[in-house]
Amino acid sequence: MRIPDYPSADAEKWSAVDEYFSHLLAPADAGLEAALQANARAGLPAHDVSAPQGKMLALFIRMQQAKRVLEIGTLGGYSTIWMARALPAGGQLISIEAEPRHAEVAVKNIANAGVSDRVEVHVGAALDVLPTLKAPFDLIFIDADKKNNPHYLQWALRLSHTGTVIIADNIVRGGAVADADSADPNVAGVREFLRMVAENPRLDATAIQTTGEKGWDGFAMAVVIAEPPHIS
Ligand SMILES: C[S@@+](CC[C@H](N)C(=O)[O-])C[C@H]1O[C@@H](n2cnc3c(N)ncnc32)[C@H](O)[C@@H]1O
Repeated sequence: MRIPDYPSADAEKWSAVDEYFSHLLAPADAGLEAALQANARAGLPAHDVSAPQGKMLALFIRMQQAKRVLEIGTLGGYSTIWMARALPAGGQLISIEAEPRHAEVAVKNIANAGVSDRVEVHVGAALDVLPTLKAPFDLIFIDADKKNNPHYLQWALRLSHTGTVIIADNIVRGGAVADADSADPNVAGVREFLRMVAENPRLDATAIQTTGEKGWDGFAMAVVIAEPPHIS
């Protein structure tokens, strides 16, 4: 069992259920298993999505029939591999990672998993890399420094088309998201992100809280339902 990001008295039970679901519905293949082992050997933080969450991202890609996917926050490439495996032939996934050491491990994990042909890892701060990318993406997964989520949402909108799905991870943060007075910049970033999502008429969205091996957290999910207003 990994140490949950947001511990609770029920953490062991939540983890056991995740293990049961993973075993049944999201079994690790050799590439995914090797990625987690390589991440641990390299001393990367265990902030990867869980296996059921990785499978959920893969299913979103299949449901959406996404061909171009953007990920902000690669770490060791665990979620990247889950998503890359779900892409159709000719699909492309661009993942952005600020830490060169994380990116180096990710690139090796992605190659070992056999999905290098469809994945590009761009090394740099996301706010520097995003302006260099060609739009549009069909699905955008935001999973980096949460304080910058409001900026990532603006970029996601610029890089989207009607129908693009935007997912942001770790938005519950052990319940801290409900605290309007939180001094944590990550909580403030998530709250501002959610406010912007709620107020944007181009987006239709929801947020779901989850429990599992990472503790009590959750994700937001939005779909772009309209083109940006035409400015003449
Ligand atoms: C939660 S981890 C990503 C986990 C990964 N998506 C997975 O599930 O396997 C967040 C990653 O974002 C990276 N990161 C933090 N700030 C960043 C920034 N400004 N630009 C790009 N990446 C950043 C961190 O170095 C870390 O590797």
